[in-house]
Amino acid sequence: MKSAQKRDKFGFCPLWRFTSAPGSSMLARLRRQWGASVDKAVSIFSGEAMSEAVFSTVKSSQVILKELMVPSYANFGGKVHGGIILSLMDKIAYTCAASHAKGYCVTASVDSVDFLNPVEVGELLTLYASVNYVGKSSMEVGIKVVSEDFRQGIVKHTNTSYFTMVALDEKTRKPVAVPGLVLEDEEEIRRFVMGKLRKKLRRAHQQEVTDLRQSLSLDQEMAELEGENCQLAL
Ligand SMILES: CC(C)(COP(=O)(O)OP(=O)(O)OC[C@H]1O[C@@H](n2cnc3c(N)ncnc32)[C@H](O)[C@@H]1OP(=O)(O)O)[C@@H](O)C(=O)NCCC(=O)NCCS
Repeated sequence: MKSAQKRDKFGFCPLWRFTSAPGSSMLARLRRQWGASVDKAVSIFSGEAMSEAVFSTVKSSQVILKELMVPSYANFGGKVHGGIILSLMDKIAYTCAASHAKGYCVTASVDSVDFLNPVEVGELLTLYASVNYVGKSSMEVGIKVVSEDFRQGIVKHTNTSYFTMVALDEKTRKPVAVPGLVLEDEEEIRRFVMGKLRKKLRRAHQQEVTDLRQSLSLDQEMAELEGENCQLAL
């Protein structure tokens, strides 16, 4: 209990550690001492009207997936089809998010996926997934993909992307709250902050695209098509 009450190196008193522990006797003791104000403090801390905030570590839902690239995965050029890699990324994103949320999730969005290197048949693909950031019902899962050629001992970074997964109630299909994240080192804090900023950028980008579509002037845009790789055949 002593260590749970200790302030961490950033000066935060980790309230969630002793209030969220399963069957936390500390929370029961605090309730006896201070009554309803404890629950109020916990709900203010979590930003929601919940009686007991729930938090999980980043490590508890991290996933590693390895898959051998077999000949049936090849495209007409003999390299591994990009769709195979995207499918594996979606699979690991789901596993990681559902493991954090302890329930059903859907893929809400996928950030751009740039394939930095081709993947060859016979290579071993390894995907690493970790929940970077959580909002109320959404989770950003960061995925890193590397491919390994055993024979030549070459490891290549194939791509990195961010999947936004949303936890849903299976019956109502409405978003449901997910546990918060316990950030245990500077790297996890950096990823959380970057995830939060990316969420803001995604929203701004979506808004920008909506605004552009609404304000589009076809006449003006047509006048600027000269030099583009198209022909007008009206
Ligand atoms: C994703 C989905 C559940 C969001 O539903 P919604 O009614 O818009 O829900 P909300 O507006 O309450 O948003 C819920 C959360 O999702 C996030 N979200 C919604 N749309 C998003 C998008 N396009 N990209 C990223 N995050 C998104 C919101 O930011 C919010 O996060 P927060 O709770 O952490 O703040 C809904 O659009 C859906 O069911 N989409 C289909 C998903 C699917 O079937 N995927 C598989 C495709 S094969």
